Amino acid sequence: MPGKYGFLLLFLPAASFAAADVTFHKDVVPVLQKHCQGCHRPGEAAPFSLISYKEARPWAKAIRAAVASRKMPPWFADPAHGTFSNDTRLSEREMNVIKLWADGGAPEGDAADAPAPLEFTSNWKIGKPDLIVELPSEFAIPATGTVDYTWFAADMGLTEDKWIEKLEVRPTARPVVHHALVFAREPGSTYRADLQPGGHKSRPEREQTRHPAQSDKGAFAIGKSFPGAEMIGDYVVNGDPYVASPGQARFVRAGSHLLFQMHYTTNGKAASDRTQVGIVFAKTPPKERVVNNAVINATLRIPPGAPAHPVSATVTFQHDTRIGGFGPHMHVRGKAMKYELLRAGAEPETLLYVPAYDFNWQLKYQPTQWIGVRRGDQFRVTAWYDNSPNNKYNPDPAKEIFWGDQSWAEMLFAFFDYVIPAGGDPLLVTEGKPAAPSAAP
Ligand code: HEC
Repeated sequence: MPGKYGFLLLFLPAASFAAADVTFHKDVVPVLQKHCQGCHRPGEAAPFSLISYKEARPWAKAIRAAVASRKMPPWFADPAHGTFSNDTRLSEREMNVIKLWADGGAPEGDAADAPAPLEFTSNWKIGKPDLIVELPSEFAIPATGTVDYTWFAADMGLTEDKWIEKLEVRPTARPVVHHALVFAREPGSTYRADLQPGGHKSRPEREQTRHPAQSDKGAFAIGKSFPGAEMIGDYVVNGDPYVASPGQARFVRAGSHLLFQMHYTTNGKAASDRTQVGIVFAKTPPKERVVNNAVINATLRIPPGAPAHPVSATVTFQHDTRIGGFGPHMHVRGKAMKYELLRAGAEPETLLYVPAYDFNWQLKYQPTQWIGVRRGDQFRVTAWYDNSPNNKYNPDPAKEIFWGDQSWAEMLFAFFDYVIPAGGDPLLVTEGKPAAPSAAP
């Protein structure tokens, strides 16, 4: 039976309907299903389940607080800039439901009012893959301590070029996989040439931090500096698989290898992982190829104690295109990141602004509409770093910080996707340049 207060909920100001009308089964479950259960269920990364009343009841106050502060669900884009199709934030109405429910003593209500439980599949979300490529071996994650970033390589076994319509990265030990990045490497590419199929390599600490003088790369777009290598998929907690829009696909060449960058975090229980990548190929060639790239500035040098040190880089587009798939990446000193489009004669346009970056969440932001850019437009990314003692994640505010893989060194990695005509030149952007930073927000 539909709730008899549904009408009032819609049309009366929030404060005027009684909290007692709001129950778990009728009002709260729909919100938890839509915004929370993707992570808050057994076997996923969140530390407790929010499926049954019994599970959720003890958390009522914490849920109210986490929702009111927008700590949950995790989402970091400033709503003043851009709209994103994967925006997970609760509406005002949904936030109010949670507040009224918790304030009213978290009543259960009638189980008959609840929507049907969500069905979670442990199978592929993309349907049956045409090809599954897995890590070459099981990897043991200890119960405690830090695991260095570990890279694995596997041969895709492709004897012809292929178009990828869907791609899903599926860890077998989800709770300990913080994130996974998957790169395709064409035959002949020198990208991470020390890593060959069947192999894996941890990156020990001493390799990590380079003084800028040792970095020959400077600021760059990844495709130019590492020809033949492209990130084609990733896994983050509660992330969605890659699903191409109609007429689009990602491209892989015959003979390509997959390289996996795995970031494991320990959680008190030893585990073993053998992450898989499932791929559904396009049945017909697309009109457009979606290419992933990144703006990087490896010359960064962050002074000790600096509370908001800016670092910037730009690339220039060589043809008209459309961009999307924004993925800001920094480490524990990352404070904020801004993506801007600079057009001749126009004010910089902010495409994405993440004012309070959190390393724990490697989120992607997919603009509702791909953003059109013109030949000659510049893409500028500015990152701010907090190397002060006020940053609670800062392991050592007294240190000068350079580029490096580990979370205690830094990165400016701003992933984005662009489209080119199928068969076109994938290297659409120039070699990047360090740039004057965007004005502080
Ligand atoms: C993308 C995965 C994800 C989603 C979606 C998500 N959570 Fe969480 N949640 C986590 C993880 C992981 C933690 C533990 C780490 C942390 O506190 O950041 C957590 C912690 C919490 C906590 C404890 C907070 C604290 O301050 O200790 C609450 C309460 C919570 N979540 C409620 C919710 C609610 C309610 C929703 C939906 C409105 C939600 N979460 C959506 C992953 C998620």
